Order: sequence, then C-alpha cells, then structure tokens
Amino acid sequence: MIPTLEWTDAGVRFLDQTKLPLEETYVLAEDYRAVAEVIRTMIVRGAPAIGVSAAMGVALGVLRSPATDVEQLHHELHIICETLAATRPTAVNLFWGIERIRHLVRKLSCGSGVTVAQIQREAVAEARRMYDEDIAACRTMGAMGASLLPQFGGVLTHCNAGALATCGYGTALGVIRAAVERGHTLHVYADETRPFLQGARLTAWELLHDNIPTTVLCDNMAASQMRAGKIQAVIVGADRIAANGDVANKIGTYGVAVLAKEHGIPFYVAAPWSTIDMATATGEQIPIEERAAKEVTHFNGKQITPSNAEICNPAFDVTPAKYVTAIITELGVLRAPYAESLRTAAEQAMHPAAVG
Ligand code: MRU
Repeated sequence: MIPTLEWTDAGVRFLDQTKLPLEETYVLAEDYRAVAEVIRTMIVRGAPAIGVSAAMGVALGVLRSPATDVEQLHHELHIICETLAATRPTAVNLFWGIERIRHLVRKLSCGSGVTVAQIQREAVAEARRMYDEDIAACRTMGAMGASLLPQFGGVLTHCNAGALATCGYGTALGVIRAAVERGHTLHVYADETRPFLQGARLTAWELLHDNIPTTVLCDNMAASQMRAGKIQAVIVGADRIAANGDVANKIGTYGVAVLAKEHGIPFYVAAPWSTIDMATATGEQIPIEERAAKEVTHFNGKQITPSNAEICNPAFDVTPAKYVTAIITELGVLRAPYAESLRTAAEQAMHPAAVG
C-alpha cells in the first residue's frame, strides 16, 4: 500500500507529496510543530489524511510534552491544538482529528489518579486507531460505491482523492479501485487540477502504480471529452460537506459538476463521515482557503505571469447539492434530499443501535 503517513517511534513519517511523481522521499515530523508545517505546506494533503495527521500531531505533542502534571498538560494541549488548527481552514477533518484527541485527553484527565504517562499512551493509541479506521472507512466506501460505476467506460475525477489523500486506498479512487477489483473495466480521466497539479502528479501516479489505465486531461478539456462520449461517470472526494449536501472540494470541482449535469453524466462524491459537517448549514458558510499567489504566478519554479498581474487563488469551491447524484459514505449511499438523508445518517452515526 502507498505509505502516505505512518506513526513511528521517532515521530510521524510522511511521503512528501510536493516531490511526487519524480521523487519518492519521506519527511519525519518529530514534534507537533513539524506536523503543522507538513500540513500547511501540503507535504501531506487531502481531507482524511489531514485529519489523521492532525490527530497524530496532537498525540505527538502530548507525548513529547515536558508537563509533569495533568494541569500543565492541559495548558500545553491548548497551544498544540491551536497550532494545528491554524494550518488549513477548509477540510473539516482537520478539526475533527484535533477534537477527537483533545476530547479524549480532557475526559481522561477527569479520572482520579490518572497520570501524564497514561494520558500520553492513550492519546497515541487513539491516533493510531484513527489511522486504521480511515483505511477501513475507505474500503467500506469502495464496497458501497463500486456498483454505481459503469461496468465498462470512462470515469473522470478531479484533484486527488486517493490513497495519497487518506491513510490508504482512497475515497473516490477507493471506489474506482473497488470497482476494478470487482471486474469493471474502467479508464480514468484525471483532471490535472491547476495550480497544485494533484491530478497530473498524484492521481496519475497512484493509479498507474496500481495498473489502472489513466489519461491526464488539462482542466479545460473535460467538456469536450464528455461531449465526445468518453466519460460515463464523475467521482470526486470532498473537504467538507454541509448539512444540506453542498460539497466543498478542490477548486474546479463545481465546473465539472455543472458540465456533468449538462451532459447527463452522474456526479458522485465519496467521503468518510469525518468530512460531513452537520454544524454548517450550507456551503456558503464553508471557509475557503486562499493560498499564495506564487502557486499561480509560477510553474515549476518559473514565473509565467506578468509581475503586476492580480492573482486570486482559492484552493476550493462549493458544488451545490443539486448537482450531486449521490454521496458515498461508509454509512451508506446517500441521495437527495440531502438535508434529510444526512440527518438520518447523522442519527445513525450517533446511536447506531437505535436506528437498526
Ligand atoms: O488542497 P488539497 O490537495 O488538500 O485538496 C484535496 C482535495 O480537494 C480532495 O479532493 C479532498 O480532500 C478529498 S480527499 C479524499
């Protein structure tokens, strides 16, 4: 399996995604500040991978804390969580990952006689459990979504929602992998995904690693390929899904969804439950990360725009729920009206036994 990130005794080890596909190198983050930097600079990226990385960052901070009593540890926990939370604003998984470890530490601290060492052990165990759960969720999404993809045909994806964006297997690419494992003959069209080129560099790299036939398209080629009948389905991941089903994902996803609707092509979103944000009513309230202008002005280290050109670089856009054919989660395949199907699934997530 592609080793996106990994807990080790020395710290958290990350495959450096900024160097792919030309170099396969690793970065070791030995403290929580280094994990924050790895997330901010996109050495690791993709919502589920960011979520687990942040959880591991908090666990690493707790583990390496010089605190000698629980009160001191609490004070540090606050700083650790704030540092990690300030890295990237859009993927809700980041905050989910941080909160899960913060909540555990707080809960354990309430127990009488609990030691710092016990809390440290439990925090690390929880972060490692989240890693395993993420892979399991991806496999379940694959199993649930595979039959939605055509038996034969072209599937377009945008950005990278694969093993590299998760702890392994992937969300959208996990569904593609599962369909291929079940005998579907698919050809993947990977949008290059300007300006960071997640599609050209990462999706193409990991699908070819698994021998899944892939064609890279420049971002402005999807419409003509759809019109030519080469694409039978679109599947993407998500960074945050609001309670009404609006989907924030990599910039350009919205345009692909509109094109898919125009051409009568189903548009699927695959995302684990940690990407659903029931506290955010609609996509309008989702914070959109604005990244450095240099990602747009430069290509391969070389300036490509006039020095005085104005630049905007929103890293994500919001696809209104009306364009989404189905949302594939590990809890099931959800359909419109999403306000209702997401609410029911949220109740199931909170009280699995009660819903049956
Ligand atoms: O800026 P990135 O590379 O972190 O953005 C990633 C995406 O937009 C992915 O499509 C999304 O996180 C889903 S990953 C399973």
